Formats: sequence, structure tokens, C-alpha cells
Amino acid sequence: MSHIIHRHLRQVPPVAVSAQGMMVRDSCGNTYIDACGGAAVSSLGHGHPDILTAMHRQIDRNAYAHTAFFTTDVAEELAERLAAGAPDGMTKVYLVSGGSEAMETALKLARQYFVESGEPQRSVFIARRQSYHGNTLGALAVGGNEWRRKPFAPLLMDVPRVAPCYEYRDRAEGQTVEDYTDGLLQELEAAILAAGPHKVIGFCAEPVVGATGGAIPPTPGYFRGVRALCDKYKILFIADEVMCGMGRTGTMYALEQEGVAPDIVAIAKGLGAGYQPIGAVLAQAALVERIRNGSGAFLHGHTYIGHPVAAAAALAVQKVIERDDLLSAVRLRGEAFKRMLRDAFGKHEHVGDIRGRGLLLGLEMVRDRATKEPFDPARKLHAAIKSRAMANGLMVYPMGGTIDGRRGDHILLAPPYIVTDNDLHEIVSRLHDAINAALAFGAKTANSD
Ligand SMILES: Cc1ncc(COP(=O)(O)O)c(C=O)c1O
Repeated sequence: MSHIIHRHLRQVPPVAVSAQGMMVRDSCGNTYIDACGGAAVSSLGHGHPDILTAMHRQIDRNAYAHTAFFTTDVAEELAERLAAGAPDGMTKVYLVSGGSEAMETALKLARQYFVESGEPQRSVFIARRQSYHGNTLGALAVGGNEWRRKPFAPLLMDVPRVAPCYEYRDRAEGQTVEDYTDGLLQELEAAILAAGPHKVIGFCAEPVVGATGGAIPPTPGYFRGVRALCDKYKILFIADEVMCGMGRTGTMYALEQEGVAPDIVAIAKGLGAGYQPIGAVLAQAALVERIRNGSGAFLHGHTYIGHPVAAAAALAVQKVIERDDLLSAVRLRGEAFKRMLRDAFGKHEHVGDIRGRGLLLGLEMVRDRATKEPFDPARKLHAAIKSRAMANGLMVYPMGGTIDGRRGDHILLAPPYIVTDNDLHEIVSRLHDAINAALAFGAKTANSD
């Protein structure tokens, strides 16, 4: 009996004993192709020699320094590199230990900016339904995934919520993409006005929705419209690129493809590529300057911020991405992967949508392709696909509640940037078998009911 509080208290997952490249091995000798990087984390695959060397070197030099006493060369160099590659003006960096911490930091930085700007009445964040921003109380509060929030709702701040940009389900037949996008922006503007623009701190959104939506990209112009509204009402645009950033969609930041810069961006996952727990917040210099000229200190901090070994790993990851031109690889392999998925599932009666950007792709499962009717949530198709895939030596990241936190199933795919075309063929083939086995099993149980 395990003493760990595992994610599922009635199941103990397989014991991972080693991992190399695209493969993870468990204690029973089973191997798994990692087609999801865990949760879109392992962007360089496993056991990358350059990252291990950088970490070993840092451990031998200096494994820990508390940021209340010291900074370190490696944290400074990482911040400098991140700032140099970030969208316009985002030159200030706060290093944390993961995505939820990054979002908490973003929310507090935004609030303190307004407090120090003489606008302490600003206390409202606006966010989108079906978003995921992390599991700590602040991040969970802005997140819009109902089943995750529900048990904790009395502890969470109120957050007005608008519709996600979810064209597959929400664009009406006959409606143009422009009209659909305009409607979303009108809804956001109405939410800002309803809250009172002078009370709003900012708008939070994932540029490409990951875990809860299954790789949902925005429509053209959506984020330009968001930026314009934030400017109009002088509120901050907080982008959550924890999953979609750091090259995952083919550019270092997903928002680059939208032609806009946020005021604050949260990153994690691919930043350390799983070699160390690390996240970061990047902010517009002017925002941090306001606090520097005011109280002079950001009222925040954790014991492990700016951890030197984590910084060394993340710095090495950035260098490998640049040296090996992995952003081009993500774009190329991403296109190839999408083509293969379309060949394999484009006509599958239960795959309603194949979507995403770069190597962040998703399949949305439906009972009926024509009506887009989802499967009965009680069937837990996503869970069945995950376990069939694992039995088939394949790691994918399926999730339920795609539509509204309760209904809908999707499968998220986020292989490492080093994936080859051969790996992709193998992934598609195993996924095909897993999906069909899960559907066949579900059909059999449904018939025997
Ligand atoms: C968009 C987004 N934000 C925040 C988080 C939370 O990150 P973490 O699990 O590292 O706390 C996640 C994790 O999946 C995420 O996808």
C-alpha cells in the first residue's frame, strides 16, 4: 500500500524507473512512447545529455541560494535570455517553481501594480469559461473549469467569466469567423463594463487552450481585439502560456502568432522541459518600474524562487532549442502530425475535430459527427482511451468535460520537439487502436446494460 496521496486514491500508477528520448520504462519492463510529454512538459524528451550536464555542473557548484540573500549567475543569465526572446517590452522576469505559482505571481503583480498606481479599487479579474490556470486558490479562482472549481468554490474569489474562443462548438452555422470573433469581443467588452472598467485589474486567457479544451487555437484577430479592449479600458492582459508557450506551438510564445504582446505572461512546463520544476512570469518593464518607484518591493516570494539548479536546467533547455533549431522542427513535425491525424481520423465517425498548433494538437471525440453530440459523461470515454493507450505502450493526455466541465471528451497530444516522423506514425497507429478498443469496449458495456 502506497503512502503517497496519489491523484486517484483507489489506483497506484505504474512505477517509472527510467526514461530516454521518447520512451519511458516502468518497473514491470513495459515501455511507453511519450506522446504527450506528461502534460506538455517534456519538450526535449527524456535524459537529454546537455540538460543533465548543465544540472550536474550547477549542483556541484552551488545547489541552492536563497533569493533573500543572493542572486546567482545562472538565474541572471536565464532571465536575460528570456527577456531577450520575449514579446515587446517584456523584460522583467520572476522565476518560480511551476505553472500555478506563475499564475499566482501574475495575479499579485497585476494587483500590486494598480495599488501602487493609486488605483486600489481595482480588484476584479475577468477570465474565460473552460480555461485552466492552475490548482492553487488564486489560479483556480480565475480558471473556468467547473468540476475542478466546484468543491472549493466557497474559498475562491468571484471572477466574471466570458465564453472561450471555441469555434468548433460555438460558431453558428452560416456565421462568419469575423462575426463570431466580434461577438466574443462584444461579450468581453460587456463584461468589463458590467464589472466597472475602473474596478478591473485584467483579463486572463490561454492563447491556445490546453488541458481543459484540448488544443483550441484562437480565431484570427481574437487576441488583437482582446489587446485593443484592454488598452481601451486600461486593464492588463495576462496571458497564460504555461502549456502553449516555450516553443510548443512553433514560436517561443504562442501570442507571437497573433501579433500582440501581453502585459504579463506566465510560463512553465516547457521552460524546464521536466528536468526541474520551474516556471516564470515575464512582465512589461513599465509595470515593474511603477513598483520600483513606489514601495520598491514586490510583496511576494517563495523559498525556492530562482532556484539555481532549476535555472541551469531551463537555461540549457533554451540553448538546445536555439542550437538545434527546434522551433522549426516543431512547425514541421506539427504539420506532419496533423496530416497523419487527419489521414487516420479525418473520417472517423467519433472524431469530431482535429485541431491545434505546432506540437500541441487535440482530437475532440463525439458520439455523432453531424450533430457534434458528445458521449455520455458517465461512460468516461477519455479515461478508457487513456488506459487502452497505456496498455498499448502509449502516453496521451485525454480529458473529459471539454464542452462545459461535464460533457465532452478530448485527447491532447504534445510529443517532445525531438519526435521523428517514424515516431509520429507509431503514435498515430497505437492511438488508433486505443481509440477503437475504448469505443468497442464502451459499446459492449452499453449494450449489456
Ligand atoms: C495553462 C495552464 N496554466 C497553469 C497550469 C498549472 O501549472 P502547474 O501544474 O505547473 O502548477 C497548467 C497546467 O496544466 C496549465 O496548462
